[in-house]
Amino acid sequence: MSNAESKDVILQKDDGVALLWLDRQGEKVNTLSVKTLDSFSKLLDELEKDPEVKAVVLISKKKDNFIVGADLDVLQTFDKAEDAQKASQDGNDLLTRVSKFPKPFVAAINGTTMGGGLEVALACHYRIVTDHPKTVLALPEVKLGLLPGGGGTQRLPRLIGIQKALGLMLTGRNVYPHKAKKIGLADEIIHPHGLLQAAKNVALKLTKKPHKRKKRMGFMEKALESTPLTKNIIYNTAKKQVMRQTYGNYPAPLKIIDCVKRGMGTNLKSGLQIESKNFGELVVSPESTQLVNLFFAMTDSKKNPQQDKVKKVEKIGMLGAGLMGAGIANISATKDIRVVLKDISMEAANNGFKNISKDIGVKCKKRIYTAFQKDTILSKVFPTDSYKSLRNTDVVIEAVFEDLDLKRKVLAETEAVVRDDCIFASNTSSLPITDIAAEAKHPERVIGMHYFSPVPKMPLLEIITTDKTADWVTATAYDLGVKQGKTVIVVGDGPGFYTTRILAPLMNEAICLLEEGAKIEDIDRNMKLFGYPVGPITLLDEVGLDVAAHVTDVMNDLFSKRGVTGSNVAKQITDAGLKGRKNGKGFYLYPKKKGKKKTINTDIYRFFGGNSRKTFDREEMQLRVALMMVNEAAVCLQDGILKSPRDGDLGAILGLGFPPFRGGPFRYIDTLGASKVVATLESLQEKHGVRFTPAPILQEYAKNNKKFYN
Ligand code: NAI
Repeated sequence: MSNAESKDVILQKDDGVALLWLDRQGEKVNTLSVKTLDSFSKLLDELEKDPEVKAVVLISKKKDNFIVGADLDVLQTFDKAEDAQKASQDGNDLLTRVSKFPKPFVAAINGTTMGGGLEVALACHYRIVTDHPKTVLALPEVKLGLLPGGGGTQRLPRLIGIQKALGLMLTGRNVYPHKAKKIGLADEIIHPHGLLQAAKNVALKLTKKPHKRKKRMGFMEKALESTPLTKNIIYNTAKKQVMRQTYGNYPAPLKIIDCVKRGMGTNLKSGLQIESKNFGELVVSPESTQLVNLFFAMTDSKKNPQQDKVKKVEKIGMLGAGLMGAGIANISATKDIRVVLKDISMEAANNGFKNISKDIGVKCKKRIYTAFQKDTILSKVFPTDSYKSLRNTDVVIEAVFEDLDLKRKVLAETEAVVRDDCIFASNTSSLPITDIAAEAKHPERVIGMHYFSPVPKMPLLEIITTDKTADWVTATAYDLGVKQGKTVIVVGDGPGFYTTRILAPLMNEAICLLEEGAKIEDIDRNMKLFGYPVGPITLLDEVGLDVAAHVTDVMNDLFSKRGVTGSNVAKQITDAGLKGRKNGKGFYLYPKKKGKKKTINTDIYRFFGGNSRKTFDREEMQLRVALMMVNEAAVCLQDGILKSPRDGDLGAILGLGFPPFRGGPFRYIDTLGASKVVATLESLQEKHGVRFTPAPILQEYAKNNKKFYN
């Protein structure tokens, strides 16, 4: 055995096999930096010439990642599309060398393998993956407004077929080991302990006989991919689907389809050139710039600003096993935290448990969890109807009904049984935490932890601190949120804190438009065109009109001080028995029969001046609704509810669906320019009144030509 060091890639020769150990220096994960690629390239020269080396195995020294992707810092250095194109071409030249290497090249994959990491593996001649729970493969570039620029758009469809490849690249979704094997992305699955030996064995075997693989395609799939005409059907369908979902707001998915379409109609070399050109254009696009900013903001927020004050959380209590309670219990148990799930009756608590079991069961079917993992997760949840079981919990989170008296009552009941160092957190969606804590024995241990529905899917946790919340409590809640897999922001207290506070004026504006005669479908469609994932009217139905009426009440306290009163129509509609999706009747009618689409409830127009409707200018409608949220976000920053524009952007995008490609309210203001935003608000104020008064901070930024980000 002999060893040779080459910085980020370490060469070890072992019985005719060159083991290339990936180990990016000074980092927890392997990313592809210019330096790593350089080391790799030099090693290829050496290995090609070395007669002792018969085959090569690429393997990671890191604990649970192979390569997580390209170094994004490098992408940010490109000002011109041509520079990014050149970088992609260089990478592609290197990976073409791997794919054409005269000796077998095996990728031995354990842990996260994303983006450029998977593209490296795709260039190898054989891929073994471990069945470790952290092993996951993906080409998630689309989420950053990019496309796989290291051969992914060309090698993946050639390996697994056009339809499956498009499916993976257009969603960026994760592929777990068994699925990877099934679709032909991986050639073999092995237990992590056997990875190295299996990779060496297969590498030597391949020196005698190259690996032959058949594309694993179903009958229909094969038929569709057999002729240029039928392939066109695939591309057109994919394009239509992208347009339906994004309204053309994101150039990346369209360029991915273009790369595959043109690339599959030519040879690999030309395909790679098409890919690099498209990649270069995307790197400098404003959409990608904002999505990369968002990625960095999310990564940055993983760092707890008060890590030294964190207390260990091993067991939490959940009060309420309803929609939110069960969801929070679910994401906690999944991360190895024990949960006492308390409701008012055993029946209600068990019901919550059943819902968790159902959700984990679905993930088990999708092979995200094994049956053993499912049992382990469920064994961490203890349904109960008794407060006594909360005795040894580190944090108790309440998710009972949205009622101030009830919340105060459960807080008092909790304080009577828990330890002296137990935190009480409320998942209220609008009530000020100070009010909930008003009669608490230990207000310093009371905090808001506002999760979003559905909890397992929504990425944000909004933590709300009061004047009395102790630092260690904030630090511990932050740590818990990160452990639960959430992006955390910490905001100040007040009605609706940050997210509900900026959502309320947006919803109200949608109602105002209805009152002025707009059509339900126009409002929803125009806001989707602007980039929101759902229209505000649909959102009102989803949240529930009864909830919306309640939130309006809470928020009116705040807004009336600025001379703005919210419409009370949600209350009238609720009183008439329309609650939205939950009872099948709201702005839309929801048929009971599965598969049937919702229709507009025209009867609801009676609350908005009757059935005679008119068409509004699209841009004006979009600006009215969106700027309501943007302006309120600015007020929140000025009032100290927000500590930074970064938190404001994260909260609006991850909690409320503010269009990610616009970067969040503050980046959006920076893009338009504060003076343009102020001018637009002033003209809307003239037409529609005081609610459009520009936030003083915006006026100041406009006057001094300032930006929220440098
Ligand atoms: P839900 O109605 O699904 O669940 C509430 C649960 O609390 C019920 O199972 C009920 O039996 C239980 N409960 C009532 N009194 C209790 C007590 N004294 N002890 C223990 N359990 C008790 O309501 P959901 O939607 O889960 O909401 C709960 C809280 O979360 C509310 O404050 C709501 O504003 C907030 N929230 C709701 C969101 C949503 O989208 N549904 C989003 C974010 C926050």
